[in-house]
Amino acid sequence: MADSQIYKASTTAPVNIAVIKYWGKRDPKLNLPTNSSLSVTLSQSDLRTHTTASCAATYPSQDSLLLNGQDQDVSGARTQACFRELRSLRQKLEKSDPSMPKLSTLPLKIVSENNFPTAAGLASSAAGFAALVRAIANLYELKENETELSRIARQGSGSACRSLFGGYVGWEKGSKEDGSDSVAYQVAPASHWPQMRALILVVSAAKKGVSSTTGMQTTVATSSLFPQRANETVPRRMKEMEKAIQEKDFEAFGNITMMDSNSFHATCLDTYPPIFYLNDVSRAAIKVVEAINVVAGKIIAAYTFDAGPNAVIYYLKENEAEVAGLFKAAIGEKEGWTGIRGDAVLANNGALEQV
Ligand code: DP6
Repeated sequence: MADSQIYKASTTAPVNIAVIKYWGKRDPKLNLPTNSSLSVTLSQSDLRTHTTASCAATYPSQDSLLLNGQDQDVSGARTQACFRELRSLRQKLEKSDPSMPKLSTLPLKIVSENNFPTAAGLASSAAGFAALVRAIANLYELKENETELSRIARQGSGSACRSLFGGYVGWEKGSKEDGSDSVAYQVAPASHWPQMRALILVVSAAKKGVSSTTGMQTTVATSSLFPQRANETVPRRMKEMEKAIQEKDFEAFGNITMMDSNSFHATCLDTYPPIFYLNDVSRAAIKVVEAINVVAGKIIAAYTFDAGPNAVIYYLKENEAEVAGLFKAAIGEKEGWTGIRGDAVLANNGALEQV
């Protein structure tokens, strides 16, 4: 008689927002980046993906993935790479202990929910693939640690490898051809610098025009600014940023964050045909941050933009009134601000609290 048992495991993974951006692949198949990157992990309470992975002999024979109630195509190379790697690790366990149920041979059913709008232009693929990999690893009772799982999540979406750790997380580009050393690592836990806050300004909830995957490859192929960014600017800034975090030096952290965002968007503009992620409202947000810093006489707020117009503003709790307060006041007056999300804080435990 067929085993009708359903095996199940659930998990959540947070969104991360890079302060040194990943942009460019040196190996699109293995999803290996041209430069290292570094991010701050946002809340699990406000921004996260919840995923349940299950498998059963009674399921339809094809693996399936439901995201926010909608069926997703799992035949793509990236999802397949994650499934394949995780199954092969489970197979190893099953071989070493023949009493274990043969879950690696059963169809998988993945059900994911984001607690934020997928279309909001936030890095949903990062939390999504991190949660998918962790949920299946839990289901398969794998012993691999975060670093090893980050190698797998990277193949789903590059930025996903940084969502398996909390706090401040780096992704080392690595140098090996098989990508085995292209993994994420924790620079510092959230508790190291618990005063850090992130304000997310949803400038547009529309889906981005040029996807990161397509955009970054066009940049690599056409931008003459790009080699300098990848080979000189980013390696230097990675060191400076790690130091700023270790020393809790917000001025340095903020300066590097803004310079790196500008550098990334400059290479986008230098791409042919050019890629415009920022719009007039994004530029207005930059001006507001500049004005805040001029009034303060030092850097107390730092903007960064991913592959879309939405701004993420980092600041410290002690400057809450000057930064978040001013933005909240400005939002009422500016056309184009469609909303404000994630006005939340990175607390001691890395969880976000409403401010
Ligand atoms: C601008 O991780 O979405 O957000 O590996 O092709 O899935 P793929 O790209 P993805 O790119 C993220 C780009 C970014 C910068 C960053 O998060 O580091």
